[in-house]
Amino acid sequence: MSVAVVTGATDGIGKAYARQLAALGLNIVLVGRSPSKLQQVSDEISMKLPTCSVAEVPSGEHFGDIINCNIMSMARLTNLLLPAMRGKKRGLIVNIGSVAGTGFAPMRTTYGASKAFVDKFTCDLAAECRSDGIVVQSILPCYVATKLPGLSGKSSLDVPTAEAYVVASINSIGVETRTAAYWFHKILLYWTEVLYFFAPSLVQRLTTQFIGRKGMMMTTTNNSLE
Ligand SMILES: NC(=O)c1ccc[n+]([C@@H]2O[C@H](COP(=O)([O-])OP(=O)(O)OC[C@H]3O[C@@H](n4cnc5c(N)ncnc54)[C@H](OP(=O)(O)O)[C@@H]3O)[C@@H](O)[C@H]2O)c1
Repeated sequence: MSVAVVTGATDGIGKAYARQLAALGLNIVLVGRSPSKLQQVSDEISMKLPTCSVAEVPSGEHFGDIINCNIMSMARLTNLLLPAMRGKKRGLIVNIGSVAGTGFAPMRTTYGASKAFVDKFTCDLAAECRSDGIVVQSILPCYVATKLPGLSGKSSLDVPTAEAYVVASINSIGVETRTAAYWFHKILLYWTEVLYFFAPSLVQRLTTQFIGRKGMMMTTTNNSLE
């Protein structure tokens, strides 16, 4: 049976992936920094899906900065898992970037740049791995109602719940290599990229206003990770 390794699986988007991939019949390896939270997610999945085999891997790592958390961990895990996938001539890698990694990300400079790395790394890897039968996908969310942007429980038309976002993401597997997945985010990403091409100054101004309106002003430090 296929196994899904899910990082950041104790909350938000990662937890929603773990739940939904388990419901699709995959066995799950949950990776996270908090053993008690991992146990909680594992118990929840096992209770709902008794036939699903769930393992927890406490990473033992609390990443103190954005670059290690968003870039190094992803690149290291990819290097770890890729040889086995190449050997089997099948596999799927889904990396979560952000719309902040495209266009401008004022007040979130390091975060935006780290997500640009995730997107570029993932898209290049997708091209590299296609002939090995491995599907690689770059997911670029805008705001999702989770703890990270301070929007837990505050879903709306443009801010889906993590569960709704992951339904859209899973539906896009094998269809789109690079996608914002959720319909509203796709529209936003499309127009951001078109406007960024033709009128970068306008995008810079609009992005600053949009981030301000959502009340999320991240600095270049690691505040967003805490
Ligand atoms: N939510 C959004 O609006 C949004 C938008 C664009 C992109 N994204 C991206 O989507 C991914 C998931 O975000 P989310 O919204 O689901 O966030 P979340 O609900 O806050 O969950 C984040 C997960 O990452 C773990 N984590 C957080 N900081 C960590 C650190 N310093 N070291 C190790 N593990 C850490 C958390 O562990 P604990 O449970 O132990 O805290 C949790 O499992 C992230 O890559 C984020 O950049 C999110």
